[in-house]
Amino acid sequence: MNLSVVILAAGGGTRMKSKTPKVLHPVAGKPMIKYVVDSVSSLKPKYTIVVVSENASAIKKTLGDSVQYVEQKEQLGTAHALQQTESLLKDFEGDLLVLNGDTPLIHTERITELINYHQEQKTVATLVTAIMEIPTGYGRIIHGSDTRIERIIEEKDTSDSEKKIKEVNIGIYCFEKDGLFEKLSEIKTDNKQSEYYLTDVVELFVNQNKPVQGLEWPVDETLGINSRMELAQANLIIYQRNISKWLDFGVSVLDPLSTYIESDVEIGSDCIIHPQTFIKGNTKLESECEVGPCTQVTDSKIGKSSKIFFSILNETKTGSNCTIGPYSHLRPGSVLADGVKIGSFTETKNSKIGEGSKVPHLSYMGDTDIEKDVNIGAGTISCNYDGIKKHKTVIKEGAFIGSDTMLVAPVTIGRNAVTGAGSVVGHDVPDDALAIERSEQKNIPDYRKNKKKGGS
Ligand code: UD1
Ligand code: CA
Repeated sequence: MNLSVVILAAGGGTRMKSKTPKVLHPVAGKPMIKYVVDSVSSLKPKYTIVVVSENASAIKKTLGDSVQYVEQKEQLGTAHALQQTESLLKDFEGDLLVLNGDTPLIHTERITELINYHQEQKTVATLVTAIMEIPTGYGRIIHGSDTRIERIIEEKDTSDSEKKIKEVNIGIYCFEKDGLFEKLSEIKTDNKQSEYYLTDVVELFVNQNKPVQGLEWPVDETLGINSRMELAQANLIIYQRNISKWLDFGVSVLDPLSTYIESDVEIGSDCIIHPQTFIKGNTKLESECEVGPCTQVTDSKIGKSSKIFFSILNETKTGSNCTIGPYSHLRPGSVLADGVKIGSFTETKNSKIGEGSKVPHLSYMGDTDIEKDVNIGAGTISCNYDGIKKHKTVIKEGAFIGSDTMLVAPVTIGRNAVTGAGSVVGHDVPDDALAIERSEQKNIPDYRKNKKKGGS
């Protein structure tokens, strides 16, 4: 099909009361406008143009070169925004899909339906409508005596009786491009906001005996986000949608109301997600994992059949059959092989942990390479930072690190070597050796008795 897309995203979004551009506010972890761009990308439009304001570097960074940008220097209204694309679309012939950038709940299938409907009916414009119980803020659809759409009236320009109309304009339109820009240039600013309203194009077409039709969509696919309240509603809807998707796929979510799975997450079948769990960013769980309760996993890859509970993971990669938690904190660059155990109050950062190795209690492993079958005793710390630079610790296969060892990096612990509990180890330990660094124990007999006699 011959289709181009324009997404309007230059508005200030003042009702959000935010420094962040409105269309970049995340909904279930993904910027609002990305939903809109993603919903049209599979339609393979000839052009996908995003209309942005002058300072749009953050939007450009988010969307990259997946779209083309056109600047609207002054925000004079939605019609004016669309007009900015005229020269870029000069040679384009076909249908033009125009979407407000603040409608993250839309589905590709619906958009396909809209385009098909528009093409079947061969009208100049088709607009998406919805019936809203509380239509406040939306443009209302006004029908003529023959039930055809006559015009759209913006909230601020409505009379009291028009305010009661529940049929609203959603801000998604399919236009025949031929003749559209000529009509846009006829739009005036004689309204309460003194703006060029795109919605006024409807009346201009109708006056010329070119009917405009509406296509109704369900409310939960059409919400436009103008306030933090609407943003919160959209978050609820998308989080629940994401959960439904994974339930259908064969994932158990024990408490959908306290589970938050962001939109770019992937989850394998037979995973079990316990309550109070957040799975965020580009996280991928392979099948049969168990995550939660009370766990947050961000931008991580978790291998098959691993278990994570009461823990926080960020940019971590694990093999299969790992167990993590309770109260583990795995920071960026933690890479675990198969069958690794990370236990309570253990923190890792930029560290590799080999197959079957264990860091079960109260430890910090930073900038450390641990080979396979290593046991790290409780309270062990890799002292990786000397106040100026970070240094590396290497612990070779089969080594046994005694409790409360301080590994002062850079340091290497040899294969099958042992460190004595409480040692400060700052020199390399050869394979198979014991490194012990602590003063000899003295026992002072009858210490308490003598203390009492002495009276002090
Ligand atoms: C608009 C519609 C309204 C509809 C509602 C649906 C108009 C005049 N009104 O109102 O009928 O019910 O959407 O949510 O179109 N934008 C620009 N440049 C501008 C102004 C806006 O690019 O000069 C962009 C915004 O970034 C936004 C979109 O256009 O993504 C809609 O603007 P917004 O101010 O949210 O319009 P509404 O008042 O919601
Ligand atoms: Ca809006």
